[in-house]
Amino acid sequence: MVLTTEICDIKLKNPLISASGILDEHGYSMLRLLDSGTSAVTTKSIGMNEREGNLNPTVVEVEGGLINGMGLPNPGIDNFGDEIKIIKRERKEAKVIGSIFADTPENFSFLAKRMEGYGVCAVELNLSCPHAKGFGAEIGSNPENVLQITREVKKSVSIPVFVKLTPNVTSIVELAKACEEGGADAIVAINTVRAMKIDINAGMPVLNCKIGGLSGKSIKPIGVRCVYEIASEVELPVVGVGGIMSGEDAIEYMMAGAKVVQIGSAIYYRELDVFKKINNEIESFLDERNLELGDIVGMALKR
Ligand code: DHB
Repeated sequence: MVLTTEICDIKLKNPLISASGILDEHGYSMLRLLDSGTSAVTTKSIGMNEREGNLNPTVVEVEGGLINGMGLPNPGIDNFGDEIKIIKRERKEAKVIGSIFADTPENFSFLAKRMEGYGVCAVELNLSCPHAKGFGAEIGSNPENVLQITREVKKSVSIPVFVKLTPNVTSIVELAKACEEGGADAIVAINTVRAMKIDINAGMPVLNCKIGGLSGKSIKPIGVRCVYEIASEVELPVVGVGGIMSGEDAIEYMMAGAKVVQIGSAIYYRELDVFKKINNEIESFLDERNLELGDIVGMALKR
């Protein structure tokens, strides 16, 4: 069984890409992801300057997932080139998707150009971090901002531009249409869902930043619904992400219309070789039914 695929002409050895936010701030940890069966790595979202992020606690486990409020910690774009250099030196062919966040179209554009210079195969615009002041969903919940930012970035780079959207809106389709109008090459859906946990003994929120983003198992039905709605109304390829723990989950996203998927929290629950495990599970599902990977993409949309 062949699991090779492509998105925006980026050839992938399988449909599983690591999601932004996990083991992706350093060259050597990204190499570990690449050696564990992922077809491409997405970097931690990188901004204009180095940022420490929020004080601990920044992550808490809840029923069906994890809530995090890291606060976009990152080394800044100037320092990040060295991390990508490590990957390029060790694995020439490695596919790296550079995630970026900024507050204005101009800064997004600047960061995208720098990432392109570092040799990434695509940029992913983080317009969806659910809790950072002035960034992410705070600007990315407005279709007009999504349009302007996408358009500006598209003018400045020649690599594919992926836009990662927030589910914390009334209509994710409106955001997806803005991406399309702005010339995006693919849509990534979804980022985390706004959530919170209260410590009932202390009588206060657990996370230092109080409200964070929920990832993991419990958000999968929300992600599948968003991918289905987007793929029903917009022509762009969709990267499905949110709560994929197994091959069956990945298949569900693909049937909803995702061309490929990203895996994040499952690394915490099923360890680093989760990519190999999920690829094997997808393979078994397809083999048992005599199907090819391409057969299932959008299958549920056609019924
Ligand atoms: C962070 C960014 C995100 O996009 C997200 O979904 C969760 C957390 C962060 O660094 O805070």
